[in-house]
Amino acid sequence: MKQLLIVAHAPSPNTQALCEQIRLGAEQADTDAIEVLHLSAFNTSHTDVLKADAIILFTPENLGYMSGALKDFFDRVYYPCLDATQGLPYATCIRAGHDGTGTQRAIKTITTGLRWKIAQPTLLCKGEFHDQFLTQCHDLGAYMAVALDNGIL
Ligand SMILES: Cc1cc2nc3c(=O)[nH]c(=O)nc-3n(C[C@H](O)[C@H](O)[C@H](O)COP(=O)(O)O)c2cc1C
Repeated sequence: MKQLLIVAHAPSPNTQALCEQIRLGAEQADTDAIEVLHLSAFNTSHTDVLKADAIILFTPENLGYMSGALKDFFDRVYYPCLDATQGLPYATCIRAGHDGTGTQRAIKTITTGLRWKIAQPTLLCKGEFHDQFLTQCHDLGAYMAVALDNGIL
């Protein structure tokens, strides 16, 4: 089994709904051998990352940056994962009230340092909440699961 890890900080009903769609999209995808693990960023350790074959990151943008929870995740896993996870495929979803670029830039900086491989353009769910975000999150989860299953990632 390949493992798709979703590392998320979802402090509001809307962000929880978005993460749930990412998880459902991945779990409902037509795949043979993908295990989906959905964890809070606070509860994700470097051993979870070392076991993962691909990662989806989810965070709201707060004060122009990723959530403290996701930053804490990166701070804890960075050095334990630095050598072992080069090339790890990842995707990012950001929920932002009006911007999202600071978070996108910050995550890119860290994942570039880790030498992770971007699998999809960042999904930015920006502005007033739209149901379309739910579909986009579902599609992102499905894409990552299918692409991992097919060996595209
Ligand atoms: C303290 C605080 C700071 C925020 N800073 C930003 C920001 O810098 N850029 C942005 O686009 N949205 C910002 N937001 C909006 C959040 O991204 C948004 O409320 C969050 O993603 C939750 O979305 P929801 O209201 O749909 O649940 C901020 C929200 C809070 C509470």
